[in-house]
Amino acid sequence: MKNYNPRDYWEKCLSKRFELSGVGHAGFSEYYNKWLYKAKIRTLKKALLSQQIDIHDKIVCDVGCGTGFFIDFYRLQGAQDIVGVDITSISIRNLKLKYSEYHFIKEDVSSSSLVSKINRKFDILNVFDILYHIKENKAFRRAIANISNLTKNKGVIFISDLCGSKSIDVAEHVEFRSRKIYEITLEENGIEIIAICPLYYLLNRSIFGMIKLVGLREIGISLDNLFAPIYYCLDGIFLSSKSNKNNLNLIVAKKVKP
Ligand SMILES: C[S@@+](CC[C@H](N)C(=O)[O-])C[C@H]1O[C@@H](n2cnc3c(N)ncnc32)[C@H](O)[C@@H]1O
Repeated sequence: MKNYNPRDYWEKCLSKRFELSGVGHAGFSEYYNKWLYKAKIRTLKKALLSQQIDIHDKIVCDVGCGTGFFIDFYRLQGAQDIVGVDITSISIRNLKLKYSEYHFIKEDVSSSSLVSKINRKFDILNVFDILYHIKENKAFRRAIANISNLTKNKGVIFISDLCGSKSIDVAEHVEFRSRKIYEITLEENGIEIIAICPLYYLLNRSIFGMIKLVGLREIGISLDNLFAPIYYCLDGIFLSSKSNKNNLNLIVAKKVKP
């Protein structure tokens, strides 16, 4: 995939599959992705609980709303209002039809016109699986500045990324940024990291699918698809241990300076 263009890339992904496997892990089945998303919710709920956040009276902005998975989550949790932002026409068109009570805005999170276009501040900014798809550092910094400007003072921001000791350039459309980069960039924008919570250990990676022998890889991936609920349960045990073998984290951050 030469010259990653986020708009074209995601428009294509979502047009091909407007379902969890189109926005989650494309290498696995829809069934596997349902377990993967269950794991995202498990960590998010834990974070909400530990910060004693009651969603009922909250106004939420879901950045990179994709198929609307998190719109549904916050709606079911009784959010007062929700706004979704996505770079693709397909996401915004479909979600406007599905959730006529909410607002959806087609915009790039790093665009200089995003904040004025939305013209509102939120209690919760939900930024799942989007910032590590921004490859350019300038665009990444602009995205964080926009996220900060959209957050009320004392508002909470959820960002998923690897957040390890080093940044890792994984693919043309993925760059995992280090914890240091997050600390510095968030602080520059008046945001403080409160917690970093692990999302998955066995999920979100190939286990049997790692088998390199010709013909066996496909079988391995089928086994991984089948074992997703087992990986989910085992991850539940690892999540409560101090193991650092997790492959993605949820950054829980708070806007501390206006
Ligand atoms: C990996 S998917 C995650 C979707 C959703 N957050 C979820 O967890 O199901 C990334 C989403 O972000 C959107 N996206 C990617 N880059 C974006 C950008 N620069 N600005 C706004 N949306 C973007 C894509 O269109 C896609 O819907």
